[in-house]
Amino acid sequence: MSSNVLEVEGLNLAYKTVRGDLLAVKDVSFSLKPGESLGIVGESGCGKSSTAYALMKMLPPNTSMFTGKIIIDGENVMELNETELRRKIRWKKIAMVFQGAMNSLNPVIKVGFQVAEPLIVHENVPKNEALEKAKELFKLVGLPQDFINRYPHELSGGMKQRVVIAMSLVLNPKILILDEPTSALDVMIQAQIMNMLKDLRKTLNISIVFITHDIAIASDLCDKIAVMYGGQIMELGSSEQVLLDPKHPYSAKLIGSIPTLRSDKKLEFIPGAPPDLVNPPPGCRFNPRCPYKFDPCDKSEPPLYILDGGRQVKCFLYKMKGSGE
Ligand SMILES: Nc1ncnc2c1ncn2[C@@H]1O[C@H](COP(=O)(O)OP(=O)(O)O)[C@@H](O)[C@H]1O
Ligand SMILES: [Mg+2]
Repeated sequence: MSSNVLEVEGLNLAYKTVRGDLLAVKDVSFSLKPGESLGIVGESGCGKSSTAYALMKMLPPNTSMFTGKIIIDGENVMELNETELRRKIRWKKIAMVFQGAMNSLNPVIKVGFQVAEPLIVHENVPKNEALEKAKELFKLVGLPQDFINRYPHELSGGMKQRVVIAMSLVLNPKILILDEPTSALDVMIQAQIMNMLKDLRKTLNISIVFITHDIAIASDLCDKIAVMYGGQIMELGSSEQVLLDPKHPYSAKLIGSIPTLRSDKKLEFIPGAPPDLVNPPPGCRFNPRCPYKFDPCDKSEPPLYILDGGRQVKCFLYKMKGSGE
């Protein structure tokens, strides 16, 4: 058996739109070991949330294509039906904190009960036991245990975010997806949540898929980083590799746009707009915005070249240096 708790291979996801099929996730592959964390970063609209929903197999009704392999804890979930998924995979093996989830807590139910509810309703756990579990989880996410009796309006944004993280952990999943969990919070609270996630990772040895548009934040928590652009992974490597020595021109631009305190380096921005996913540009999807564009880039799509240290880069610049197919 493989030592990976999550394996994704050649994942594709398209939506039906009035303009035609929109390919939001194209040929995405990655894997995660127990306790390992992956950051998925990229501009808004590049397919991060779509990838996350695909992993949960929670797809909108206008899905027009969903193919590839998703293996969770040794089981190919693409072959499971909805009942089997609910019985053994969703929330039990893989859980997700949705983008903006902290704003969708039920305002008239105490937060402790909202955390305990799946245990009571679906697992037949007695109410007092379930509330005990909620207390344990509150401790784990850094909330005072008596906060189980509070209503959402009695909590700050950071506290609500901790509650929704506790909710996602109630059935002891092995994999946790967090979709932009800190984007709506101010920087101090953001840092506190990041520290809590680091502790959580250590305590539970849980695998994390951390989605953000902020590559600096991702590299702080994650072992490895996947840079997405136009529905594709453009670069995948360890956090150090990608942050300190980005190889893909798009990753380099993303990192060039991080402000630093002690340097007079000019901030870069990326001219142009993200690709139209209904009619993507021919060849590499980044070619219209790429400063290094050369002959093959608008004609054929680059493969993922594998460089030293196992890093993968989808860019023709590495044709000579890498060992792509
Ligand atoms: N249900 C849907 N129907 C049609 N298009 C969608 C749907 N959901 C997302 N999209 C489109 O898919 C692309 C990727 O979106 P998303 O995965 O939300 O990106 P991100 O999370 O990186 O911002 C975007 O162009 C978005 O408009
Ligand atoms: Mg999103």
